[in-house]
Amino acid sequence: MIIIDQKTIGLVWIELFENHHVQPPSIHIMIGNPDYRGKGIGKSAMQAAVNYIKNTFELKTIYSRHLANNTPVINLNKSLGFKEDGVPYIDDNGLVWKNIKISL
Ligand SMILES: CC(C)(COP(=O)(O)OP(=O)(O)OC[C@H]1O[C@@H](n2cnc3c(N)ncnc32)[C@H](O)[C@@H]1OP(=O)(O)O)[C@@H](O)C(=O)NCCC(=O)NCCS
Repeated sequence: MIIIDQKTIGLVWIELFENHHVQPPSIHIMIGNPDYRGKGIGKSAMQAAVNYIKNTFELKTIYSRHLANNTPVINLNKSLGFKEDGVPYIDDNGLVWKNIKISL
């Protein structure tokens, strides 16, 4: 959980098993409280998760995914060094996703 000012404003999580078409380990983030978006918190939390995996496991790649049209998260992940991984795909709910990965 990401807790700021004693409020839970979002979460960042690491998945260690393949889930929703994304290989492990994968990192995912959500800043649920809009008042706390755009303040550098998401980037800082994602970077902390990348560093945790880097320093804990002997792994070469971290994976993630995002909705194909989610500009904020595309920019955030690009700024951390994530690259596209394969072609976009549509899930059972009709949502278009893009997988991404970063080499450590
Ligand atoms: C997407 C999300 C995780 C970004 O977290 P955040 O704390 O708001 O982002 P930050 O302030 O750390 O910004 C990091 C980078 O993201 C990009 N970014 C953030 N908000 C943006 C916006 N509204 N438009 C475009 N780019 C944006 C920028 O590149 C920014 O870097 P910069 O400030 O150096 O330009 C957060 O806004 C969020 O959870 N939104 C709603 C749910 C969601 O989309 N979750 C992701 C599901 S895959």
